[in-house]
Amino acid sequence: MNHKEAIQHKVFKIIGSTADELSLECYVIGGFVRDYFLGRSQVKDIDIVAIGSGIELARAVAKKLSGKPEVKVFKNFGTAMVKSEGLELEFVGARKESYRRDSRKPIVEDGSLKDDQERRDFTINALALSLNKETFGDLLDPFQGISDLNKGIIRTPLEPGITYSDDPLRMMRAIRFATQLNFTIELKSLRAITENKDRIQIISKERIVDELHKILMSEKPSKGFELMHKTDLLRYILPELKALQGIEEVEGQKHKDNFWHTLEVVDNIAATTNNLWLRWAALLHDIGKAPTKRFDKKIGWTFHAHEFVGSKMVYKLFKRLKMPLNEKMKFVQKMVLMSSRPIILSEAHVTDSAVRRLVFDAGEFVEDLMTLCEADITTKNPKKQRKYKNNFKLVRQKIIEVEERDRIRNFQPPVTGEEIMKTFDLKPSKEIGIIKEAIKEAILEGVIPNEHRAAHEFMLEKGKELGLKK
Ligand code: CTP
Repeated sequence: MNHKEAIQHKVFKIIGSTADELSLECYVIGGFVRDYFLGRSQVKDIDIVAIGSGIELARAVAKKLSGKPEVKVFKNFGTAMVKSEGLELEFVGARKESYRRDSRKPIVEDGSLKDDQERRDFTINALALSLNKETFGDLLDPFQGISDLNKGIIRTPLEPGITYSDDPLRMMRAIRFATQLNFTIELKSLRAITENKDRIQIISKERIVDELHKILMSEKPSKGFELMHKTDLLRYILPELKALQGIEEVEGQKHKDNFWHTLEVVDNIAATTNNLWLRWAALLHDIGKAPTKRFDKKIGWTFHAHEFVGSKMVYKLFKRLKMPLNEKMKFVQKMVLMSSRPIILSEAHVTDSAVRRLVFDAGEFVEDLMTLCEADITTKNPKKQRKYKNNFKLVRQKIIEVEERDRIRNFQPPVTGEEIMKTFDLKPSKEIGIIKEAIKEAILEGVIPNEHRAAHEFMLEKGKELGLKK
């Protein structure tokens, strides 16, 4: 079959004719070809494989491209990269060995196209289109990748045990592709992943996290976490989540399975936001429940302070996975810490002061927090479902009203410490803190509005109470 239409970009003609001049066979392969057949938006990373030296081909191609871009050579990997017109072209020589990016051994470029294809991860990633003039656009698919694409199957070209031990990251890639594309991992492959799961430990955390991000950014992330659970990769990657799985029963009382609940929450939030870190927050919002679980004879199952414990666990988890310990992590911590606040609100009568406190504590992230809490509604009882949703609507409405009136979100004390010091002729002292705190409390409680005059009056009264003189 010929598929010229996939490679209309002029760069492909240039690569093909250069390869002809060097008497090399060359192909475009991997994600670009897969995504063309899937009708997905075209990737900017383009993998070119030459039967011979990929580096030599890259150098010759770069000379013909406009602007004569630089060629970045990675000798150890036997690859060369050229950037041109927003595309990243990666050249490699066909090889008999596997595609290990972290391999220390020098790569030997000694394979045929088929050797190269069978050393790739999945049949759907081993599709190649010829770029040489004579055969321009011809598809080479010796492992039935097209058929797997049509059937929606993730399958390895070789025995799965070989493919996965060549590069254990592929276990995560299999799960990631299955999640992104809503494909099924072939049973043999799934078994091999289960058998080889402990080998994931040799893979760098950064690469694992890349895959986790991609799973989380999929339309239905639960599929990926379900597969990680089924193959037990979860044990090594997110043991905190694994610990949430299971239902215990004491004296006839059960708690819900917090693992499956969490996955529902993640799918819910994926339907409403593309904020990766908010999706992380959804994934981790209940992790404090495993270590805090207790059975109390009077009240049944409790998870006392799980939000606080969970937010502390976020730090350890991010650190272990070498994720950024910056404001992103702090955001996730804050979401986890506050994850029950709006729920408590929505169960009771919603007062203005409770809403003001919520806005005060959540600050600029109050909408994100509401989004998380709405996603957290997984009750199957339609009556309760409706009640919670309506209450959340009310909370959102009140947030807007209260904010218009009181501007709590980026709260700045209407009376400064300096003003207090001047008024009462004070040196820095604890009284200043007491008065400031009292003013803030009065505003949040709705005793006074958030404005200078009222706050100044309140300060005078409070000063009197403390026995201060003007
Ligand atoms: N590959 C592989 N084994 C890996 C990584 C990559 O065999 N562990 C091969 C696959 O043929 C893959 C190609 O190298 O298609 C390019 O890899 P990469 O750019 O990481 O992924 P893509 O398939 O392009 O997909 P995506 O951009 O979605 O990550």
